[in-house]
Amino acid sequence: MIVSNRLPVDRVIDDDGTATWRPSPGGLVAALEPVMRAEDGIWIGWAGVADEDVEPFEADGISIHPVRLSEQELQEYYEGFSNDTLWPLYHDVIAPPSFHREWWESYVKVNQRFADAAAAVSAKGAVVWVHDYQLQLVPAMLRAVRPDLVIGFFNHIPFPPYGIYSQLPWRRQIIDGLLGADVIGFQRVADAGNFSRAVRRLKGYETRGPIIEVPIDSDDPEAGSHRHVTMNRHGGLVRTVLARQFPISIDAEQYQTMARRPEIQERARQIREELGNPQTIMLGVDRLDYTKGIGHRLKAFGELLAEGTLSAEDVTLVQVASPSRERVETYKQLRDEIELTVGRINGDYSTLGHTAIAYLHHGYPREEMVALYLAADVMLVTALRDGMNLVAKEYVATRVDDDGVLVLSEFAGASDELRQALLINPHDIEGLKETILQAIAMPRRERVRRMRALRKRVLTNDVAKWSASFLDALTRSAHGDHPLQNP
Ligand code: G6P
Repeated sequence: MIVSNRLPVDRVIDDDGTATWRPSPGGLVAALEPVMRAEDGIWIGWAGVADEDVEPFEADGISIHPVRLSEQELQEYYEGFSNDTLWPLYHDVIAPPSFHREWWESYVKVNQRFADAAAAVSAKGAVVWVHDYQLQLVPAMLRAVRPDLVIGFFNHIPFPPYGIYSQLPWRRQIIDGLLGADVIGFQRVADAGNFSRAVRRLKGYETRGPIIEVPIDSDDPEAGSHRHVTMNRHGGLVRTVLARQFPISIDAEQYQTMARRPEIQERARQIREELGNPQTIMLGVDRLDYTKGIGHRLKAFGELLAEGTLSAEDVTLVQVASPSRERVETYKQLRDEIELTVGRINGDYSTLGHTAIAYLHHGYPREEMVALYLAADVMLVTALRDGMNLVAKEYVATRVDDDGVLVLSEFAGASDELRQALLINPHDIEGLKETILQAIAMPRRERVRRMRALRKRVLTNDVAKWSASFLDALTRSAHGDHPLQNP
């Protein structure tokens, strides 16, 4: 069973009032859909619109159980606590987080609703996999009523260093919530380390490598029903929880197969032509989010145009910025800033035949994205902080021609694995400019050498491997065994 804020499908109400379903945005869904179809799973989540009661139904072999959110909960739990408190806090306070007690109360209430829904439909001893920062209290809430369940939690976004995390007024409650799980997965080694440190500092629990020892009250009538109960070195009873990295990936084969389709390759050629056949196409693909460093990317490109090092005749930047969390104030401001910058750069440097920045505020179907990746000579991933960044992996999986250059921020989780990318610090605008020039001028032999190494990595470590290794750790945990080694 999967429990996540979003279902793999969103309910959309058209202007004429008819309701339809369409795939949800975001990396989480793209990553889990293939696993769930293969496993005949139940998926518990929110249908993407407020105040809608939707009966459980089947979609593509997945049994969908929608959880209702009221308009006020959407504002307080989702837009508020999840996306205006936790999101900026967990992404290194790039934007200032807001702390509101009513938002926290709503977060607790909604997490309880998700936990109740999961508790009601899971079979005895079922494996429940809870996802992401919107639902960090669910593991402990679930364990409290269903100690028979095997509970996993995966955090798709970064877990911040203690100095930042400790700002959260509810920092202890969140740690307690997460420690209800048997296995807690993170994207990077550093995230798991930050979490263990927060556990030690805030709870005083002992950790041994990836194992966290959670003391059990021996008077607790449920004490005997917990898994992994052992005696610690002080003679106390503890439950052990495994907290380590499981870097997420994509269905690489699907991207590769699409990239080989003649009509998609034709579409890539057509895109080049529509852009006026520039020598170099650079591409950015992001949700319109302040963590993605879109402004830094535009600044670097704008300066290269201003200095005359690059010209809009030769180089076009295609920036796909898909709409996201549009009612949250920080996102509204970001959109204004980005669109102002794009307008200025285009006004100053575009010609009638060549647009400096083709800015697209839309989401696109996967086929179109693959064609864009194929058309792009240079892919720019300049995130200021990002759990993983699946776009980087999608670009690599798509390049069946072994060509294309990936410029990748070291602040994206993907940089731990994709070492042959051109790694950058997006705050260093001068360095970013030099790297963009290096990417544009890179000889084909070097492009191929780097891309081959990147592709090997992404094709071997795909999403099936990711979910298999997480589920393997969870299943082993059901048998009382926590694997200490990396899978
Ligand atoms: C990130 C988060 C996901 C989230 C997605 C889209 O990838 O890790 O949990 O679903 O962004 O954001 P949204 O707020 O639209 O669900």
